[in-house]
Amino acid sequence: MILTVTLNASIDKLYLMESIHPDTVMRVKEVHNTAGGKGLNVSKVAALLGEPVTAMGFTGGFNGRYLESLVAQPLVRCAFTHVAEETRSCINCWDLSTGKSTEYLEPGEPVSPADVDRFFADFDAALPSADVVAVSGSIPKGVPEDAYCDIIRRCRKAGIPAMIDTSGSRLVLAAREKPFFLKPNEDEIAQLTGRAFSGAEEAADVLLSLHEGGIPYAVLSMGAEGALLACDEGLFRGRPPKITPKNTVGCGDSMVAGFAVGFARRLPVEETFRMALAVSAANALSIFTGDFDPADYERLRSLVSVERLR
Ligand SMILES: Nc1ncnc2c1ncn2[C@@H]1O[C@H](COP(=O)(O)OP(=O)(O)OP(=O)(O)O)[C@@H](O)[C@H]1O
Ligand SMILES: [Mg+2]
Repeated sequence: MILTVTLNASIDKLYLMESIHPDTVMRVKEVHNTAGGKGLNVSKVAALLGEPVTAMGFTGGFNGRYLESLVAQPLVRCAFTHVAEETRSCINCWDLSTGKSTEYLEPGEPVSPADVDRFFADFDAALPSADVVAVSGSIPKGVPEDAYCDIIRRCRKAGIPAMIDTSGSRLVLAAREKPFFLKPNEDEIAQLTGRAFSGAEEAADVLLSLHEGGIPYAVLSMGAEGALLACDEGLFRGRPPKITPKNTVGCGDSMVAGFAVGFARRLPVEETFRMALAVSAANALSIFTGDFDPADYERLRSLVSVERLR
């Protein structure tokens, strides 16, 4: 079972619009409500790959219950810590004439110290049944900045791999705590090094030093350029085939899901990497976030390339 942690969940509302004209009244052509937050994208993709998931984090109020109803599918068990405040919503207005989107992200209500304590108690209770833990995204106000470090330490103590995908100071703090897996993108690796991203060559050295420093799987995702992976088996470069993406939001989350499934199934690393590359590219071919067509995934799996560099 993959245990996912989404502390800052949201109801994601996708508005499909014929076109967007600010300062006017516009009618929405189609509305799609989904359970959002990066950990929930990981949950959805891992479940679509056939792996059981337990989804944890905070949900609150009527919106929280609605969010859990949106998550509901046989392979995903909701084990959220319930809080009094309503779960937030995020709106993505998609202009069908240009293919461009404008996002409105609500800040969300703060959680209390008692809520945080209850989450950790729930987490500790669920942890022993997990094969791997995937922690993604931002945190609501009220959660300590180093909460992910706390999660990494709890996982280490229990002997369960912790995967972290986040940004900013949480990423910097988490990297110091040496999780099992870390997946920055190009912006995030710059946050880790304090230097602008200057290409795969230099990034490879950064990944190797993260790996040598105690992070078993250090991955850099580079959008359409694919990804780099430093691990005990070597330094690998993965490339997707050229595709015409529809929506690349959540590609990183899909990549994390692919790795989580590979780790849970104890697959060889190259097979795991191939799965992560294929499922993240397949996500780019779906207009929905954290979604893919199994036929795209199967086709892409034979088209991605994985090469050992060192
Ligand atoms: N246009 C694309 N074509 C093929 N594969 C893609 C494309 N965009 C992303 N991917 C795949 O998805 C992986 C993750 O993408 P990216 O580096 O954009 O992650 P990210 O910035 O963390 O995304 P997010 O945080 O929105 O989920 C890439 O390494 C690549 O394998
Ligand atoms: Mg990301």
